[in-house]
Amino acid sequence: MTDAPASQFTPRVFSGIQPSGGLTLGNYLGALKRFSEMQNEGRDCIYCMVDLHAITVWQDPDKLRHNTRELTAGFIASGVDPEKSILFNQSAVPEHAQLAWIFNTVARMGWMQRMTQWKDKAGKNAEKASLGLFAYPALMAADILVYHATHVPVGEDQKQHIELTRDVAAKFNHDYGVDFFPMTEPVIEGAATRVMSLRDGSKKMSKSDPSDASRINLTDDADTIAKKIRKAKTDPDALPSEAKGLEDRPEARNLVNIYAAFTNKTVDQVLAEVGGKQFGEFKPMLADLAVAKLSPISTEMARLLDDTAEIDRILARGAEQAREITVPILKKTYEIVGLVGA
Ligand code: AMP
Ligand code: TRP
Repeated sequence: MTDAPASQFTPRVFSGIQPSGGLTLGNYLGALKRFSEMQNEGRDCIYCMVDLHAITVWQDPDKLRHNTRELTAGFIASGVDPEKSILFNQSAVPEHAQLAWIFNTVARMGWMQRMTQWKDKAGKNAEKASLGLFAYPALMAADILVYHATHVPVGEDQKQHIELTRDVAAKFNHDYGVDFFPMTEPVIEGAATRVMSLRDGSKKMSKSDPSDASRINLTDDADTIAKKIRKAKTDPDALPSEAKGLEDRPEARNLVNIYAAFTNKTVDQVLAEVGGKQFGEFKPMLADLAVAKLSPISTEMARLLDDTAEIDRILARGAEQAREITVPILKKTYEIVGLVGA
């Protein structure tokens, strides 16, 4: 099989988040914080509100509009600067959906059936799930490859979709005898690539969990954040002084991971400081830290959301910049495939 290693391509970062509800601490530590750090390392970054992915399950149109603008405000408030990164919504750049169609003809049904996100979301009622939900990973591959993106920062849960993106690129390159699409690398880094529920250390923190106490929302005020951390499920033991001591303590490990991610320290560095402390002492430290880091973000989000016209202008400009990249790549793809008039 012809592989086009990412290293042959100019390094370029792409990632996306669905505007399907509020942002959580998981989105912040697993994605947004990393996005702004990669931008500040001087990399070429493209970030997208994936509204076409959101509608693979029903969305109220007014809420979708609101959530797209709120998510944009969340990106900017977390440090993504539209002067440095390209920031836009997926539906405004039609080449994503156009390339996704080509990839629907490249990807195999069996590949999609193996996706754990599909199995989780469709559940036992797969017959009733939308065709779009099934094809979701082909659109995600298109999001990435329509920029020839080489690096995709995501949380742990998205790793399988990035592997599928590589499979799509490899099969396209092989079937058409080209080295056109890169083998994109996932970037899953930091102490909090999988932030867990505050109520159950075996479940991912998620905006769709019915219990609001299970998550910290980026729009929560300082009192709510502190209260949720105080009430977070833990065990009765003191904190260990090394990471090994957290192995069978998922709730304790989660809180230490969160602390480490906020302070850009390793888990061992954090435990060297707080090992031996009881949760009665550690939780207020974590709550203060979380409030100090998150309050400025929620305040800035609220300020930005006061001017939706400005948010829409930022998105429109981002879409224009994005199309400078996507139009030529889609045209070349059509030529490779043999579509006349490309
Ligand atoms: P979603 O909200 O599912 O569209 O996810 C957007 C981004 O946030 C993806 O990169 C996810 O991997 C990341 N993410 C979502 N939830 C978590 C979590 N609990 N821990 C770490 N990363 C997460
Ligand atoms: N599937 C991702 C999620 O649920 C969102 C997404 C869509 C994405 N397209 C992407 C992430 C491209 C990274 C790159 O979180």
